[in-house]
Amino acid sequence: MDITVNKTNSLQGEITIPPDKSITHRAFMFSSLTKGKAKISNYSKGADCLTTLKIIEQLGCHIEYLNENELIINAKDALKAPITSLNCGNSGTTTRLISGILAGQPFNSSLFGDESLSKRPMKRIITPLELMGGKFNHNDFKLPIEIYGTELNGIDYKSELASAQVKSCILLAGLNANGITSFSEPYKSRNHTELMFEYMGADISIKGNKVSVKKSKLNPVDINICGDISSAAFFIVAALIVPDSDITIKNVGINETRSGIIDILKSMNADIELTNERIISNEKVADIKVRYSSLKAATIQGAIIPRLIDEIPIIAVAATQAQGTTIIKDAQDLRNKEADRINAVKVELSKLGADIQETNDGLIINGKTQLTGDCDVNCYHDHRIAMSTFVAGLICKKPIKINEFQWVNISFPEFLNLFHRINNH
Ligand code: S3P
Repeated sequence: MDITVNKTNSLQGEITIPPDKSITHRAFMFSSLTKGKAKISNYSKGADCLTTLKIIEQLGCHIEYLNENELIINAKDALKAPITSLNCGNSGTTTRLISGILAGQPFNSSLFGDESLSKRPMKRIITPLELMGGKFNHNDFKLPIEIYGTELNGIDYKSELASAQVKSCILLAGLNANGITSFSEPYKSRNHTELMFEYMGADISIKGNKVSVKKSKLNPVDINICGDISSAAFFIVAALIVPDSDITIKNVGINETRSGIIDILKSMNADIELTNERIISNEKVADIKVRYSSLKAATIQGAIIPRLIDEIPIIAVAATQAQGTTIIKDAQDLRNKEADRINAVKVELSKLGADIQETNDGLIINGKTQLTGDCDVNCYHDHRIAMSTFVAGLICKKPIKINEFQWVNISFPEFLNLFHRINNH
């Protein structure tokens, strides 16, 4: 589906952002380990999370749909050997987390994925899982992967990479491993696994950037999933850069390990206000009010990078409208996402007229520039590139055409509908 995006004059109104993708994956997978029944409310219907749901069904969970937004996962017959190979689609989170679960099962399984996922690195999980005793056959550390289920032993693993997917994979393997399993990372990555483990009664302890888990059972608990700050990010930046905008985004997860975008945008002079702060299913939630702002540049590096890793493409769009030079570094792993996001952002925003350079581990963006548009852009089979170029299109002088915009459905099928609700033309 190719779409045309036109300049708009103002965004106004109130929207509720769809549920968090990271938390939905975890609610589905962790419930599959409980042997009980749990109600999951307000789950993400993005393709990636539906991929995870299908996989836990193939592993023996029974899914009962209560209504449009609620389902019950009955894990009484889970986990059991799947009859066929498990299709992880486009989802790195599914692949890496489910590998940690499957490595320690008393059965074999295999995983495959789409073209983009099949190029993504899996050494980061295979190496520590092998240290725990895991047995695999793989395609040079990429999918497809055969997993030969076996008994695992705990490890004290020091990761060079701050990655919630790797951390969650190892902690999930640790739930079913002998002894204690610890994972340390240089900076703290998103901690939804830790919070949900606590909520479900696992024996977990956290000291700084080190998390340890003992062999433990998870209790089935009902989980209500908050809105996804990574999805809200596109509307936050849109309201900041489209003149005369004033929007409120309701029910957004503002977990400290995910809210780097708010901190950075505020340091760039953004008018963002958090209200109605509360806790839902062990996660911090708020409503976010955003008004058009005159932005200034920032340097983004170090510990904040994992707190906004998925938001860098849309922060780059904001930086084109900020006075001064924005420098983004320490973000090398962006090259290993659904696309090489450093290169994709540079190529596509350059086409629109941005002054942007690519570095080994980030981007340098000079602002403020009037984006011109009047061109076609590509989204590289990457939902976040698709939505970032869409937001940039809202302030281009002339319309832009985005090729294959349907990739938005990976995380945010409701994107266009919500946009039309606040677009004041
Ligand atoms: C995720 C962790 C991050 C993030 C991804 C979702 C998760 O990946 O980019 O979109 O749910 O754990 P890494 O762990 O590879 O940084």
